[in-house]
Amino acid sequence: MIQFDAVHKRFPNGTTAVHDLTLDMPEGGVTVLVGSSGCGKTTTLRMINRMVEPTSGTIKVGGKDVTRQDAAELRRSIGYAIQQSGLFPHRTVLDNIATVPLLLGHGRKKARARAAELLETVGLAPESGKRYPHQLSGGQQQRVGVARALAADPPVLLMDEPFGAVDPVVRTQLQDELLRLQKELNKTIVFVTHDVDEAVRLGDRIAIFRTGGHLVQCAPPAELLARPADDFVADFLGAERGLKLLSLTTLAEVPQGPAPEGTAWSLVCDAAGRPLHWASDGTEVPVRPLKNDDSLLAALDESVASPTGLVARVDADGVLSGVTSRDEIHRHAGRAHTEARVAV
Ligand SMILES: Nc1ncnc2c1ncn2[C@@H]1O[C@H](COP(=O)(O)OP(=O)(O)O)[C@@H](O)[C@H]1O
Ligand SMILES: [Mg+2]
Repeated sequence: MIQFDAVHKRFPNGTTAVHDLTLDMPEGGVTVLVGSSGCGKTTTLRMINRMVEPTSGTIKVGGKDVTRQDAAELRRSIGYAIQQSGLFPHRTVLDNIATVPLLLGHGRKKARARAAELLETVGLAPESGKRYPHQLSGGQQQRVGVARALAADPPVLLMDEPFGAVDPVVRTQLQDELLRLQKELNKTIVFVTHDVDEAVRLGDRIAIFRTGGHLVQCAPPAELLARPADDFVADFLGAERGLKLLSLTTLAEVPQGPAPEGTAWSLVCDAAGRPLHWASDGTEVPVRPLKNDDSLLAALDESVASPTGLVARVDADGVLSGVTSRDEIHRHAGRAHTEARVAV
């Protein structure tokens, strides 16, 4: 969908921001550009919608050379979301979201109807549409920023550290929300971050850059974690590469057995069969039940916290389906690593 071919960007002051970049970003996927500050991520992103022009090389979107298209038109057909949301402070939230549909010539009524629909899409209450950006929390403002980027229903969405300014809890919520949205919308997303965990969570493919605008490696997260191309990538991914890989593998394939009976600890459930806690001689230890789409990392974590080493497994309704032992989780964790290494 987006193709960089031998793209170079040198600013007039002599800084090379992007060096000989050749990179394909597949349609309907999230490509994350990651790397420390100043390595050329924003410049790369902004060359896609011609906010920055390359010095040499070609960039194609949907097979068409971007320099052959009208810059303003191109920009309207590509969603753009940035940190601090970039909202107009003197316009209501609804009018902020309606900006692009209005520019595209939709009537005011239609643009506002579309904006109201998008408020709901990004998980905001209808009333927030009448407010001004400063009356919303940082996380809510970022949601508005995403809604505005989606307003013209563009096939391509560029996101430059959109969740960089919110606290970790809200950030996780926004990431979840984006993943949920992306399942429905299937946009081609280019997402910039300097946070490795965010990259691993969101990316179908991760492109790692180093200073001077050099692309070091581009691969799906599991491949990157299992086989970093060099020490730079390994260092950048951090010491807990193994655990990060486990965060990408789900519990679905891990077998479960019946909950133990007549043992020192028993698993107490409510009337509907939902696990409440482990109990032994009047002592209660909280239980965090896990679903099939939870990760091996979450399972490992829970097995360490569990007094029995057993993890309670539940179905989509939260009803107990069985338990899995710490040993079984370990075995699958080892297997996940081996498979990731062999697969690449
Ligand atoms: N307009 C500009 N003029 C000169 N240098 C710039 C300009 N924009 C960015 N740079 C430089 O280009 C390099 C890459 O910047 P940028 O793409 O913003 O990196 P990142 O988004 O990865 O932090 C940096 O050294 C930055 O200082
Ligand atoms: Mg940047």
